[in-house]
Amino acid sequence: MNADLGLIGLAAMGQNLALNFAQKGFRVCVYNRTPEQTRAFLEQAGGEPLCAAYTPEDLVRCLHPPRRLLLMVRAGAAVDEVLEQMVPLLAPGDVVMDGGNSHYAETERRIQALAAHGLFFLGVGISGGTAGARWGPSLMPGGPLEAYAAVEDMLLRIAAIGDAGPCCAYMGRGGAGHFVKMTHNGIEYAIMQGIAEAYDGMRAGLGIPPDAAAEVFERWNQGSLQAYLTELTARVLRHRDRETGEPLVERILDAAEQKGTGRWAAQSALELGIPAPTLTAAVIARTLSFYKADRERIAALLPWPERAPAAPPEEFLADLEDGLNLVVLAAFSQALWLLSEASRQYGYGTDRAEVLRVWRAGCIIRARWIPFLEEILREDPEDPHLLFHPRFLAQVRERLPGAVRALQWALEAGVPMPALSTALDYLQGMRRARLPANLIQAQRDAFGAHTYRRIDRPGVFHTEWSAQGG
Ligand code: 6PG
Repeated sequence: MNADLGLIGLAAMGQNLALNFAQKGFRVCVYNRTPEQTRAFLEQAGGEPLCAAYTPEDLVRCLHPPRRLLLMVRAGAAVDEVLEQMVPLLAPGDVVMDGGNSHYAETERRIQALAAHGLFFLGVGISGGTAGARWGPSLMPGGPLEAYAAVEDMLLRIAAIGDAGPCCAYMGRGGAGHFVKMTHNGIEYAIMQGIAEAYDGMRAGLGIPPDAAAEVFERWNQGSLQAYLTELTARVLRHRDRETGEPLVERILDAAEQKGTGRWAAQSALELGIPAPTLTAAVIARTLSFYKADRERIAALLPWPERAPAAPPEEFLADLEDGLNLVVLAAFSQALWLLSEASRQYGYGTDRAEVLRVWRAGCIIRARWIPFLEEILREDPEDPHLLFHPRFLAQVRERLPGAVRALQWALEAGVPMPALSTALDYLQGMRRARLPANLIQAQRDAFGAHTYRRIDRPGVFHTEWSAQGG
């Protein structure tokens, strides 16, 4: 078979992508490390224009040049292992795409390594989970532009279709595709944490069961919080455990796992010098949740009085809704700022309005807010965090009082809301013309002669603070 694409790795995402490509008329040759998996897949997928290879050599023979390969293997060492096998078999001009959640720095390294053989490597962020892979994911390809040109037609055909076209666009040079996907996941973590906090507020503040909380999320899904994750949350909360008949969510251990992309987003923000506290707080909240046994012990040692919200339930829920809206806006602001700085420092040339367009459909963070944010960036592409834009600020201003009330209750009731509190810290910090960092500078100079600058004169200064200084 003269196949258009070789797909390596037949776990759930790989299988569904293969089916998606095949359904769009591309001839796909699949390959998996374990042949049983390949056979089982082909049997079940019968009828589609798919074929299988059982050795890397066969796979390469099956493809027409320039060969296009898509790796759907676990991020990390497995990608390098596959490349080691495949690179000697490929010819100059062939394109290898990595569709996993690889770290962008690894992608940069692989681009260089393959370029030395005349081969192209693209980091392709893919979002939307297994259903997205099958019916239309959001695609974030990055790397050498000429390599993107060689695969663009295929990617556009399998992508989700949003109301502004297929959700796929070139994200920029080097590791840009995986950087954008990592940033997407940073937002994903923050919104999930914000939703979980709002749920905790409903449970702890109003004592409402999951069914009733689902109703609230369904209602929120009709308004500004309309989003895949809002709708999904309502669905999850309504789901009942088959054995006990209870809401399944009540039976799930409260220790959240993570595979690394959220943590990388937080690390990148720290490295690039961008304040992204809400993305970071969401990662920390997952990490803290993991210490379940410690939490249980401390819970008994440090009880805290419960406290009902002062406001009537409907008003309290409206405050939580304002809070969650601010978490979403703060998360996007931080993430877009991170993308702007990464593009500048790493030379990606990322068009952030295009990033938002690609996130309109197919991906996990698709939300009603996105077209609004995209519009703002198209009007003012240089605004790093959107906080210079009056319409963005108007949305923030409208929700600040409610969000503050929600957080006030949470602090008094002993309900941790790190996404909400960091969102407010971020917005309040950015809104404050003068911060106490002058005192930090004075302290640094006093104990370490690190110097400081003044507001009334140019230059760098040092003071002998006092004889008692450390
Ligand atoms: C997506 C998701 C996906 C990611 C999961 C799990 O966009 O489809 O981001 O790529 O693997 O969300 O991430 P964690 O295991 O870190 O929660």
